Amino acid sequence: MSTKLKDLLRTADLSKADVELLLDTAAKFANNPLRSKKALAKRTVAIYMTKSSTRTRLASETAVAHLGGTPVFLRGDELQIGRGESISDTAKIISGFCSALIVRTFAQSDVDELGKFASIPVINALTDDDHPTQLLADWLTIREKFGKNIKERKFVYVGDGNNVANAWLIMGAIMGAHVVVATPTGKWAPKSLIVEQASEIAKKSGAKIEVTNDVRLAATGASVIYTDVWMSMGDSESDRIEKFAALKPFMVTPELMALTAADSIFMHCLPAHRGEEVSAEVIDGPKSVVWRQAFHRRTTIQALLYHLTRGDLVGNNLSKV
Ligand code: CP
Ligand code: NVA
Repeated sequence: MSTKLKDLLRTADLSKADVELLLDTAAKFANNPLRSKKALAKRTVAIYMTKSSTRTRLASETAVAHLGGTPVFLRGDELQIGRGESISDTAKIISGFCSALIVRTFAQSDVDELGKFASIPVINALTDDDHPTQLLADWLTIREKFGKNIKERKFVYVGDGNNVANAWLIMGAIMGAHVVVATPTGKWAPKSLIVEQASEIAKKSGAKIEVTNDVRLAATGASVIYTDVWMSMGDSESDRIEKFAALKPFMVTPELMALTAADSIFMHCLPAHRGEEVSAEVIDGPKSVVWRQAFHRRTTIQALLYHLTRGDLVGNNLSKV
């Protein structure tokens, strides 16, 4: 049985119907950014971040403005939370002033706690484990390119088994897609709990989930090759040398792209490090859709704010990871 979704704390909170609704609305906001310019009139949305951000902050602030609201940006180190005020007290205080809270931080459990104690919608704008708003932008970009019929297509993430890889698996599972994550085995593979959850979702959606270390096999015939930085925010610098050595075979090069389908695209959530996870020829080449992806960060966050604050999303009953 579905219930109304209050927060987007993780990618797995969304049902396929929610994603379809959000992408339909985001496509409308892409054509006409001000079509709901009074939806958040006289309301404020808090954007609280303890990690760096270029796209997500810009997308969130402009999305709120386009809906007629006022964004309030809160840096983690400027709040009393940095001096020991509890997450639950902070959540209650923000709920008294604002209509929604967008949060980027390290621990997923902190976002869960904010969701528990805030009376307003809370949106995960990236944690160490997940990046749900990114995946909305990614899937709108995919839909623009390939349409809704994704049968016979393979959607491949290559590189570090990080928050974006986790979200790639879960969103692909929700969408009923054939998703592959190609990473080194061991420390930099996606967590088994995430793979299990994606497989669980796939049983109902008809998705096919594959995790492999064979990057060439993964890339062969792929419609999408997606990658992300090899050092995420919060990763330990002491791992850099060992990690980069393990990831070197997973760099997206023109040779790897040559194995993909004729109409394939290259995706990256950005920021990118040319010469590390991707070569400049690929990210700046004709198959790259990274700028469209970045553009859709705003359209999809705008759609998310619009529908979450109206109570339009249903969510699902999946157990939490
Ligand atoms: N893709 C993404 O989340 O970018 P930022 O870190 O710049 O927000
Ligand atoms: N995996 C990256 C994504 C940045 C948008 C990080 O967490 O730093």
